[in-house]
Amino acid sequence: MMVPPLSEGQALARVKYLSIDPTMRVWMADVPQYMPPVQLGEVMRSFGLAEILESRHPDFKKGDKLMGLTGLQEYVVITPGDPRAFQKLPSIPFLSDTNFLGTLGLNGLTAYFGLLEIAKPQSGETLVVSGAAGATGSIVGQLGKIHGCRVIGIAGSDDKCRWIKDDLAFDVAINYKHPDWRQQLIAATPNGVDIDFENVGGEIMEAVLDRMKLHGRVILCGLISGYTRQDPALSSFSRVLIKRLRVEGFIILDYASRFMDAARQLGMWKMTGKIKDRHTIVKGFDRAPEAINMLFQGDNIGKLIVEL
Ligand SMILES: NC(=O)c1ccc[n+]([C@@H]2O[C@H](COP(=O)([O-])OP(=O)(O)OC[C@H]3O[C@@H](n4cnc5c(N)ncnc54)[C@H](OP(=O)(O)O)[C@@H]3O)[C@@H](O)[C@H]2O)c1
Repeated sequence: MMVPPLSEGQALARVKYLSIDPTMRVWMADVPQYMPPVQLGEVMRSFGLAEILESRHPDFKKGDKLMGLTGLQEYVVITPGDPRAFQKLPSIPFLSDTNFLGTLGLNGLTAYFGLLEIAKPQSGETLVVSGAAGATGSIVGQLGKIHGCRVIGIAGSDDKCRWIKDDLAFDVAINYKHPDWRQQLIAATPNGVDIDFENVGGEIMEAVLDRMKLHGRVILCGLISGYTRQDPALSSFSRVLIKRLRVEGFIILDYASRFMDAARQLGMWKMTGKIKDRHTIVKGFDRAPEAINMLFQGDNIGKLIVEL
């Protein structure tokens, strides 16, 4: 490994954990998107947590831990005014480093702003979340419970369903790989659905839209079923019209100025046991490409992280 000598103002950090996110697949595609696609020959973009080894930077000292767009690499040189948005992490008892990538990181924040700010759940409402045992979906469901919703999670294995129902107290968990999952969804939503927190798209989203109440809210967080295929996210908009649905997409980076306040609240819920989380840790930098594929095979429960 070649690390150049540091100039005045720079710091060298060793990456300890890489956050593995479905959006990395989107960043690799040469299509219009919310950030420029990663070009061939560039370091692959990723969020990560790094520790300062050496510093000539005014804001960071040796031993500080930072989060930001480290990229898929083992070392990162941080420059003055670095656009990769590095934030120094506080040291908080009861919270692990990896919590800052999941529950207090982009996933928890996505769940927080998507559900609480956009959907504004009311006590007694029915919330359906897809990708329910993943990093984002598992927090969405728990925030729904904190706010008095009846929560139905859709996930891809019996193990995942057991976790969200037995440990996270979702009211109903449906394994969409069971042949009768659509009937289970109908049985679980006798009065219809107020909020669809959509992480997947395709046939799962269509089945949930069929259960929406009039004027229901659809929070478009992700459409992972289409990231590796060309399938349309929705075959027909008529459901949206007939049910008079409000459909709102969002990108969490738009809420960056309010991350600190939301992370503080998520941290309180985590420390008081109102939010539980799980990590799937893959060890070894060389396994990062394999880890990205795991997201699309459903091989993670909770937050997927590569530990270097
Ligand atoms: N809008 C934003 O700002 C924002 C921010 C963060 C994340 N997101 C989106 O939120 C969603 C979840 O992201 P995450 O980081 O929390 O990942 P995650 O849920 O921890 O992992 C992805 C999960 O998606 C499920 N999945 C993969 N392919 C699928 C398919 N074809 N059909 C159904 N389920 C499939 C798998 O679980 P199963 O075993 O259940 O299939 C997999 O474990 C993604 O769509 C992501 O793009 C959006």
